[in-house]
Amino acid sequence: MSDSHDQDKPWSRLAESNRLPLVGAALGCVLFGVLMTLVIRGLWQLENTPVAGSFKEEMMHRKTRAMAEILEGLVREDLPSVEASAERMRGIGQKVQWYLSSSRYEDNDGVFRDSTHELIEASRRGDYADAKESALRLEMSCIRCHELINREKRPAP
Ligand code: HEC
Repeated sequence: MSDSHDQDKPWSRLAESNRLPLVGAALGCVLFGVLMTLVIRGLWQLENTPVAGSFKEEMMHRKTRAMAEILEGLVREDLPSVEASAERMRGIGQKVQWYLSSSRYEDNDGVFRDSTHELIEASRRGDYADAKESALRLEMSCIRCHELINREKRPAP
């Protein structure tokens, strides 16, 4: 099978001895241990870091970032960048739609979705005036919906 030259190498010696399965098993155990440690640590951190927070909060913080990017794109008159940020906003909106489509929030989820859609369309057309208007409507939907939420949270006088 292998010539004597090969047999000098530790690997081929190992391969020929029947210790190979043993070494494999030991390595497997170590890897498994490391993996479990990582998984457990990951789970533990998920519970403890405020960053992970609730799914809702994380999504909403992404909305805040997307809104800031939209504003920045508009002041630079960089409509392709506005379009990209608005697309991201729409994606986030779709992820949280299931809990925002409640009458508690009046029509603000609808305004949010419509104005995001209009902003994407206007940016695509290169229509700066329309893009400005829909961005303002979008931002107003954040403020109005949050106004309702804050009022609900405030203790009754
Ligand atoms: C239709 C209602 C609605 C709209 C529109 C909306 N949000 Fe929210 N937002 C919520 C709800 C509900 C929560 C979760 C509040 C809670 O669980 O206490 C939230 C939470 C947040 C939070 C986290 C607040 C915190 O206390 O940590 C931020 C930030 C946020 N939204 C930003 C935005 C931005 C920016 C927009 C617009 C681009 C927006 N939201 C549009 C309903 C809305």
